[in-house]
Amino acid sequence: MKGDQIQDKKFNRYTVTAALPYANGPKHIGHLAGAYIPSDVYVRYLRLNGKDVIFVCGSDEHGTAIPNQALKENTTPQAIVDKYDRQIRECFAKLGMSFDVYHRTTEPIHHQTSQEIFLTLFNKGLLREENSEQYYDEEAKVFLADRYIVGTCPRCNHTNAYGDQCEKCGSTLSPRELLNPKSTLSGKPPTLKLTKHWYLPLENYEPWLRDWILKNHKEDWKPNVYGQCKSWIEAGLQSRAMTRDLEWGIKVPLPDAEGKVLYVWFDAPIGYISATRALFEEVHTGQFKFATPQRDLSHTKKEDWKKYWQAEDTRLIHFIGKDNIVFHCIIFPVMLHATGEYIVPDNVPANEFMNLEGDKMSTSRGWSIEMHEYLEDFPDKPDVLRYALLTNLPEAKDSEFTWKDFQAKNNNELVAILGNFVNRAVVLTQKYFEGKVPAQKELSDLDKKALADLKDFPAKIAASIETYRFREATANFIDLARAGNKYLAETEPWKLAKTDLNRVGTILNVALQIAATLSIVGEPFLPFTSKKLKNLLGVTDLSWQQAGNANLLNEGELLKEAPLLFEKIEDAVIEAQVKKLFDKKRTMELESRPANPAKAEVTFDEFSKMDIRIGKILKAERVEKSKKLLKLEVDTGIDKRIVMSGIAEHFSPEEMVGQQVTILVNLAPRKIMGVESQGMILMAEDKDGSLKLLAPGQAITPGSTVS
Ligand code: 2FM
Ligand code: ZN
Repeated sequence: MKGDQIQDKKFNRYTVTAALPYANGPKHIGHLAGAYIPSDVYVRYLRLNGKDVIFVCGSDEHGTAIPNQALKENTTPQAIVDKYDRQIRECFAKLGMSFDVYHRTTEPIHHQTSQEIFLTLFNKGLLREENSEQYYDEEAKVFLADRYIVGTCPRCNHTNAYGDQCEKCGSTLSPRELLNPKSTLSGKPPTLKLTKHWYLPLENYEPWLRDWILKNHKEDWKPNVYGQCKSWIEAGLQSRAMTRDLEWGIKVPLPDAEGKVLYVWFDAPIGYISATRALFEEVHTGQFKFATPQRDLSHTKKEDWKKYWQAEDTRLIHFIGKDNIVFHCIIFPVMLHATGEYIVPDNVPANEFMNLEGDKMSTSRGWSIEMHEYLEDFPDKPDVLRYALLTNLPEAKDSEFTWKDFQAKNNNELVAILGNFVNRAVVLTQKYFEGKVPAQKELSDLDKKALADLKDFPAKIAASIETYRFREATANFIDLARAGNKYLAETEPWKLAKTDLNRVGTILNVALQIAATLSIVGEPFLPFTSKKLKNLLGVTDLSWQQAGNANLLNEGELLKEAPLLFEKIEDAVIEAQVKKLFDKKRTMELESRPANPAKAEVTFDEFSKMDIRIGKILKAERVEKSKKLLKLEVDTGIDKRIVMSGIAEHFSPEEMVGQQVTILVNLAPRKIMGVESQGMILMAEDKDGSLKLLAPGQAITPGSTVS
């Protein structure tokens, strides 16, 4: 892959998409690292270069995942998508994702666009109607989507494989391959029932795909993407059903298609097109609901969306995670190509996955850092997360996020390199020149070298961005700040103030010019910091072409008070995050374990014989020769008495004293280790065997009855 791609004369505009996230739950930082942050960097870079670009995304609100989640949360699919669309949309905004439009696939314009494209293909005779036997749940009276069927994996014998995939061995499966299939709805084996669907015959497009991808994109597509496409094509493509028997989704626009909707992977990528239509529609009407155009589009017409999807001089780029490759490189392009109206992507820079603290990231297992969780704990640090992810993107292989690394990136790079450099340049200017940019007088060799290096940086960073190497681009960017620090360390302006103020002025001028370029080239990576920095330096709307210039700041311009760009993150903060992560995983694990079955029934009279009171622990001590026992003195409100309790492995005597407890006071006394125990302290045993005190949660007078 070569640099300088954006000078390619073939293309006059850009359509950049980021995978539409499923609105079935919160999205985690792995998603950010996969598609979102890289796409945002790329688009911000294009905008700085004055390119005609639109950046589209939105919530993917169909598919079985949505009703599935609605069942779990005991609500409707619509309520689910409303809730998570709002959450995801807000988090993206707070993290600086600069979409021109963030749409929703439940919007009417999307239903219309999807149905139109389906009909175009249908009317051209390109969809094959086929009856086939599909798994059906007789009890729930529904056809079962792949995810609703579990069974034994034919490859590795894992007993909990899904109808489309075995998560243990990673094999892609079809439901019919599973051994002992069961419906997840009723738990019963499904039956086979005949149903009609419309298929896209991918095999007919093999020659076209070979030509388009294997021949033309060997050089410029990432090896992981190219490789996956190649193996798909070479394994032999098969027809894929583009419709499903489901209620939730976009109705199949044909007369004989009652109860059928479009396959979610048919409609979701069309969501990019509908979002673009919505963008131009909203610009046209001036009523903005989903669109936030990042540049002036007021001269455009409603129909201009077509240029971004149908004109050959538009460069279409899809940013996605690796699990979406086949859909964006094979199925969706075949759909687009088959219409005869649409362009296909010029590149699909898919990333691999980001793991978390040594394990695969997973929301359902609780091993994840969700965007909203991060933002709740670090509301003023969106750029720190962007940076920590960018420096660790899974571009060529899976990568790993650790809180320690996050801390190190913040403390050792953002604070110690970038923040420190800017701070030194500004503070010294304030100290010696009343905060005004000093004059650049005669340049020493060191100054000349610093300015020459400065000039080279923007092109280096650009080449990395243009070839989708965002890790490298970020490293180049921080290297510029590093070079700035080195320059100050070598020139030591603080030592020269008494003897040669002119020289100090020249050094600070050079340093401030470097800071000005940092504010431009840093914008794609750290948009919030770049804004602060531009404001501080009085730099407005400079383009990428101006970056590297030795005279961006004019002599005499007044700098603003330096804001704190970054602050150190202490060990305790990081330790708390790691603990939070383990706690969340444990909670999820326990919640997913079944509760013990109910005991045999008791009558009301039997129950009322129990005299349960609120008590307070007065004294607690260990019992000699016993690991398990604590000897407790309890104020029961009736009397003060001794209870021997088998909780010493869970509680220390110190933490028991003063606790309110629930105590069964009329349990027959028994001697334990020679001491008469008069009652029993009630405890909850968690699913992992740990004991929790049943404390009332508010102050209640000892002796109060519990019933
Ligand atoms: O994997 C996912 O999260 C899908 N919702 C991505 C869809 S991308 C596009 F096709 F809309
Ligand atoms: Zn398997």
